[in-house]
Amino acid sequence: MLTFSTTSLRVRENQLWILDQQALPQQQRWHPAQTVAQLVDHIRALRVRGAPLIGLSASLLLALLAENGQPRAQLERDLAVLRAARPTAVNLMNNLSRMAQALAQSDFVTAMGQEALRLVEEDRALCDAIARHGAALVKPGSRLLTHCNTGGLATAGTGTALGVIALAHRQGNIAQVWVDETRPLLQGGRLTAWELGELGVPYRLICDAMAADLMARGQVDAVWVGADRIAANGDVANKIGTYSLAVLARWHRVPFYVAAPHTTCDASCPSGDAIPIEQRDAAEVTGVTGSFGQCRWAPDGADVYNPAFDVTPAALIDGWVLDTGIVTPQQVGEGLFSRPLRSEGAV
Ligand code: MRU
Repeated sequence: MLTFSTTSLRVRENQLWILDQQALPQQQRWHPAQTVAQLVDHIRALRVRGAPLIGLSASLLLALLAENGQPRAQLERDLAVLRAARPTAVNLMNNLSRMAQALAQSDFVTAMGQEALRLVEEDRALCDAIARHGAALVKPGSRLLTHCNTGGLATAGTGTALGVIALAHRQGNIAQVWVDETRPLLQGGRLTAWELGELGVPYRLICDAMAADLMARGQVDAVWVGADRIAANGDVANKIGTYSLAVLARWHRVPFYVAAPHTTCDASCPSGDAIPIEQRDAAEVTGVTGSFGQCRWAPDGADVYNPAFDVTPAALIDGWVLDTGIVTPQQVGEGLFSRPLRSEGAV
């Protein structure tokens, strides 16, 4: 396969490398992902994370394994194992369905290599299209609030919500971005803060609990978040804490936008209730682990509830900004998400 790289994935000499998103920003460590077991471990540990990136890493690994001589029957088993690595983001399942079609072809080695690279190129184009549509909604002097990390680290391109923010910044329309730290794994405090710094976008980091106070003081002009799955009725699963922001935004009359590629839409999933929500390890809540070491504050044996995602009801969302364009609440009510969407951005 061709040598290429995105912000957080690399293919070199027929091997996949991933940038460790748990070590960022203090350390930039690249790990090999040579086997399915290794990649599943990276995905579960969130060294590879973000809905689009998870799907792309799994597709690239399968293509490389095929190129390195893995037999078809083993690739079929690998595909099933990867499909189960994280249950909420539908991009993984969508990408793997396309890889399964490639695997069914007689020259599956060529087909899988071409399909994996196509998925990467498509993702770049999808990000650009989302940014174009989304930036049109950003008014001059905007103070935007974002949650989790939806940038170049989480995609092959410029990102989804963060891609919108980056383009709006280049257009001169961003006064400041409020970055939610995003407990428990701090994707905002570690990754979004780092990415915005690299892009030269002015930001201020806040604890998640500070958003209500900021909105009450009139300091937030809009909230922009990503998505892991969009159900047929417009409900959105995204990083835990997104729902509370949507409730706050509605109370304070702040527009709330979701940015995602059309590949995040799941027409077969009737509503948010049907989206599987990943439950994660108690240690993420009882303390913190990172490149800086480990620290525990909760009492031994503390009982913990730790869902990785929550569901924001469609009624709280003012716009779904996709690569295909801006979807309004009225269009959602008319059933737009209950049909498969096609993108102009796809290559
Ligand atoms: O658990 P994570 O860090 O993978 O969660 C990521 C999110 O919730 C993102 O908002 C979503 O995947 C979109 S990334 C473009």
